[in-house]
Amino acid sequence: MRIGVVGCGRIGTRHVDAYRQLGDVDVLVADEDEAQAKAVAERWGIEALTPDELLNQDLDAVDICVPSAFHKDWILRALSAGRHVFCEKPLCLSYGEALEIRSAAEEASRHVTVGYLYRHHPAFRFAKETLDHGIVGDPYVAMARLGGRGSHRPWKHDRQRGGGVIFEMMVHMLDLLSWLLGPLTEGELAHHELVLPQRHIDDEVVDVTADDFAVVTFRAGGVRALCQSDLVTPSFMNHVEIQGTNGSLLASILDFMPTVVYCNEPRVLFDRGHNFRQFGPTNLFVKELGAFLEAVRAEELTEWSLLESVELARFIDAILGSDAH
Ligand SMILES: NC(=O)c1ccc[n+]([C@@H]2O[C@H](COP(=O)([O-])OP(=O)(O)OC[C@H]3O[C@@H](n4cnc5c(N)ncnc54)[C@H](O)[C@@H]3O)[C@@H](O)[C@H]2O)c1
Repeated sequence: MRIGVVGCGRIGTRHVDAYRQLGDVDVLVADEDEAQAKAVAERWGIEALTPDELLNQDLDAVDICVPSAFHKDWILRALSAGRHVFCEKPLCLSYGEALEIRSAAEEASRHVTVGYLYRHHPAFRFAKETLDHGIVGDPYVAMARLGGRGSHRPWKHDRQRGGGVIFEMMVHMLDLLSWLLGPLTEGELAHHELVLPQRHIDDEVVDVTADDFAVVTFRAGGVRALCQSDLVTPSFMNHVEIQGTNGSLLASILDFMPTVVYCNEPRVLFDRGHNFRQFGPTNLFVKELGAFLEAVRAEELTEWSLLESVELARFIDAILGSDAH
């Protein structure tokens, strides 16, 4: 198999590392910053090309790791070159862009897979099975939180360039709740704010503009839900809580946090009271890209990843439109 990775920044590097761990795949890299592509290629002993050269290669798929404002253009270019696409989250920055991508994928008869990697974490897979088997009964309230540092690149704090808390952080948890509970509806941006207007990036103090803290309320599969995300949490924080008619579920990708199912009444292998599970460290890039390569090999790529991401783009357009501020 041959995969072309475009964008050799922080995440592109993690993808290349994951492919190398997975083995049995040739990886080529490109970046608009040629020195960046060369540095990554030298480190891994692989080939660096210009972006145009990459598109002219015989590839099984193009893996897009450029800043989010360039996702749409890169996806369209890769599709028109006849390639399947793996694209980092978010798919794109608006519902209009998402519809363009969907049409282009249909026309090219190629698939687009979006990198919502939390779906691959064992704790969240366990949460999904627990919910699907009714262990906590019928869910009626859900809360999700994702907090991180930010301050990695100026574009991550510039809304026009695809940054800010909604596209950088919250999309992950919105995707996760839609997967766990069902389609998102009735979204409202309850609060949004720029808490830290000055950031230290590459040894400089940078004035930034995009919101770094937001709270959104909505329904997920009819369940009353709330999601808080930010770019102001020094340590990184991630968890989902779901309350149901037979108890509570708490799940997190953090290996120092337990995943806990609390049952009012025992169900199957779950006792009354707290049932603890611990999941060790997981390289989510290896998991999600391993699943992608497997699907490419078996010719089992489907349109669901793209269609669900298009729906998420529609939901985000609606909450940004609902912003009364
Ligand atoms: N899955 C996750 O948990 C996760 C985490 C962080 C970032 N991301 C996503 O990954 C993507 C990349 O983020 P990052 O942190 O690696 O950013 P980054 O700024 O570190 O890297 C982006 C790279 O793309 C290159 N680039 C910029 N514009 C380009 C263009 N038009 N054509 C070719 N190359 C171009 C830059 O030179 C840079 O090397 C973003 O969409 C981001 O939202 C995902």
